[in-house]
Formats: sequence, structure tokens, C-alpha cells
Amino acid sequence: MTVAPHTGQIVESGDATAAATARHFTWRSEEDTEAFARQLAAQPLLANAFLTLHGDLGAGKTTLVRHLLRALGVQGRIKSPTYAVVEPHEAPGLSPHATTVWHFDFYRFDDPREWEDAGFRDIFANPGLKVAEWPEKAAALTPPADLAIHIEAIDDSERKVTLHAHTHAGRAMLQGL
Ligand SMILES: Nc1ncnc2c1ncn2[C@@H]1O[C@H](COP(=O)(O)OP(=O)(O)OP(=O)(O)O)[C@@H](O)[C@H]1O
Ligand SMILES: [Mg+2]
Repeated sequence: MTVAPHTGQIVESGDATAAATARHFTWRSEEDTEAFARQLAAQPLLANAFLTLHGDLGAGKTTLVRHLLRALGVQGRIKSPTYAVVEPHEAPGLSPHATTVWHFDFYRFDDPREWEDAGFRDIFANPGLKVAEWPEKAAALTPPADLAIHIEAIDDSERKVTLHAHTHAGRAMLQGL
């Protein structure tokens, strides 16, 4: 297991109601990112989770999502959301609870009316894994993330990663990683 063997301490906040639980990882290469994606894919509560991905341009958000989709059994070319904001993927490995992964990229999202018009509200009201890049751009509309994944590029291949759980499901997933 190469994903940050030296880290992984669980840091509980002192405030039980806020229960901000966090874990830190270091991905030294994209292989570590892939290994992390496989562990995330194995979490039983993932099928209805909402994950937010934070980090600068090129941090590795899409790369993580692609490895996650592969780990969930998505084959062939994986299209990323661009102007469409969301790209659905049928992921057999996500079953039995749901098989759709909704990959959002809110980078170009600037019209809150689109939340209703494009059916995003319905997507969030239904089963399926929702993963969002640039969630800050739709922060007033999205529910709280189960897990917020912050990725920081250290150099060409190393990434510092912090996960924050904001729900019970998120805490369960965090502790399973
Ligand atoms: N350990 C790593 N984890 C993730 N990506 C890595 C890693 N090492 C190198 N990379 C490279 O960093 C780049 C990350 O690009 P990616 O498109 O995933 O970023 P992004 O965070 O989605 O950016 P954007 O905000 O523009 O969507 C890719 O070229 C990827 O191959
Ligand atoms: Mg991206």
C-alpha cells in the first residue's frame, strides 16, 4: 500500500456537532492517486455520495475522477464535462444501490437558473454518486459534501491531499480509507 503510509491520522475537531473529521495523504505519483481511487471505489456508501474536489488548475481533480471511474468499471474513452457542466457515466462497480456517476465541473457555471433548468436539482435528489470539480462556483446550490477532497500540487508528480468529512456517510467513508 503506497498511499501515504506515514500519514492517515484521523484529526477530530473538538466540536462534536461540527464533527470536522479530516485525514491527510501524500500521493507521490499518479500510481498513488490511482491506488487511492481504488480504495475510494471500494467504499460501500459511495453509491449515493457527494464528493467535492478542490484545488488549482492542474491539481489533479479530473485525474482522480478518471481513476475513480476506471476503478468503478467504466471502460472505453472517459469524456470530461466541459461546456455541458455535467457528464454522466454508467459505472457497473457502483451497484447495487445506483450505477450512475455524475461528474460535474462547475468552472464555467455562472447562471443559477441552470441549476433548475438543466435538472441538476433532480440529479442531487436522486441516487447516484455525484463528484464536483470547482464546487465553489455552485456553493449556494449544492448540498453539503459528504467528503471534500483538497488536492495541492507540490511538484510534477507529488500531491498533498486533505479530506474533510461533513456528514455521517462522509465520516464512515473517511474511516474506511
Ligand atoms: N499524483 C498525481 N495525481 C494527479 N495528477 C497528477 C499526479 N501527478 C501528475 N499528475 C498530472 O497532473 C495533471 C492534473 O490535471 P487535471 O486535469 O487532473 O487537473 P484538474 O485539477 O482537473 O484541473 P482543472 O481545474 O483545470 O480541471 C495531469 O496531467 C496528471 O497526469
Ligand atoms: Mg479538471
